[in-house]
Amino acid sequence: MEHFIINGSKPLRGTVNISGAKNAAVAIIPAALLVDGVCIIENLPQIEDVASYVGVLRSMGAECKFLSDDTLQIDASNICTTRITPEQLKDMRASYYLIGALLGRFKKADVPMPGGCNFGVRPIDLHIKGFENLGAKVVQEHGKVTAEASNLVGTQIFLDVASVGATINIMMAAVYAEGTTTIENAAKEPHIVDCANFLNMCGAKIKGAGTDVIRITGVDKLEGKRYSIIPDQIEAGTYMIAAAITCGDVKVCNIIPKHMESLTAKLQEVGAELVVREDWIRVIAKKPLSAANVKTLYYPGFPTDLQPQMTTLLTQCEGVSYVNETVFDTRFQYVDQLTRLGAKITLEGRMAVVEGASRLTGAEVVATDLRAGAALMLAALAAEGTTKISNLYYIDRGYEKIVQKLSALGAEVRRVSSDDDLPMLMEA
Ligand code: EPZ
Repeated sequence: MEHFIINGSKPLRGTVNISGAKNAAVAIIPAALLVDGVCIIENLPQIEDVASYVGVLRSMGAECKFLSDDTLQIDASNICTTRITPEQLKDMRASYYLIGALLGRFKKADVPMPGGCNFGVRPIDLHIKGFENLGAKVVQEHGKVTAEASNLVGTQIFLDVASVGATINIMMAAVYAEGTTTIENAAKEPHIVDCANFLNMCGAKIKGAGTDVIRITGVDKLEGKRYSIIPDQIEAGTYMIAAAITCGDVKVCNIIPKHMESLTAKLQEVGAELVVREDWIRVIAKKPLSAANVKTLYYPGFPTDLQPQMTTLLTQCEGVSYVNETVFDTRFQYVDQLTRLGAKITLEGRMAVVEGASRLTGAEVVATDLRAGAALMLAALAAEGTTKISNLYYIDRGYEKIVQKLSALGAEVRRVSSDDDLPMLMEA
């Protein structure tokens, strides 16, 4: 069992380069299944979820070859099955994209229900509604989803919730459908635009990605192309918050500042100084920082995936802050772990009331999901003394080389593989 050991209270200083977006990678890799040919995807992050997806595609008969650390060649010409077994999938949440991709290309899919983070119910009813509107028969039983269609015909689909996954999944299923499919109330996240851009480069006809109405006109064939995915807005935001919570001075590079606007505004509101340029943002922070309120919303609102990290920062801001999580039912499981480090947060349903600034001191904590793990990392960086974080699998799912990147910024962080090292470190 691996743990992070972090000696906190050190301001982060320097430059960090952001990797490719996890949520674009886990959509574009399965989207390559739609192409009867060879695709080359660049700027992939070296994270568990990418490795898991490559393993699944290989088990389906796709040839996957890393041409370099971040460049993957996928040849999906000889896919030999439309049925995925639970053993082939880990608890990857994004496995649901296999349904849309297989249904779109082969009009058949048999995929286990998605796993993933444990915050609230994660239904896929809107994905299924979209597939059914396109003409597929979808059955959910025995822990899996089977979808089949004699023909997929373009249609109009209204999403009751602007679901990222449903938007991308329906887009994939509709790529070869007859006629035009319209997705109303579509989600607008950057990774949706990225996936649409990849498919359009291969010859799909998708218009309106990034708006709340997406139109997909069915085509007969896609050609394999080379495509570079966008930088990860959530990884970037996590490092921007790391600079603020440690009262440091960090230049976050290889990003698209437009994707960061809701966070940039919030960090300025609490009193950090930000310098924004074409492909980097520098965050400089000094105490005291001031309380602010946060409401998570669909893009371009404040992203739910930065809510745990921002709430952690607010524990260090003078005054009372209110954090309203509107996207997921319960995304505050990390709060009781933060409390072990000294945070003062009370929960009222989807609202967290944060009393700052509280004194954080090192302790042993456990990551409960990917972004919760990131939040605990940030708290540990600000805490006095040593913190041990367990359940690193979650963090490794979404953050490439996090120990190297934080260490390069002056953080004292180590990945240890057993408890043997701990007593010595704790004495340090
Ligand atoms: C994607 O999850 C991301 N995952 C999540 O990031 C992110 O938190 C979420 O979008 C919101 O931005 C990937 O892209 C792989 P949703 P997804 O469908 O697609 C409800 C991370 O940390 N809903 O937009 O599962 C749902 O319950 C992960 O990188 C339905 O009701 O999210 C939720 O309340 C965590 N029915 C809301 O919509 C459905 O069929 C938003 O979910 C689908 C969703």
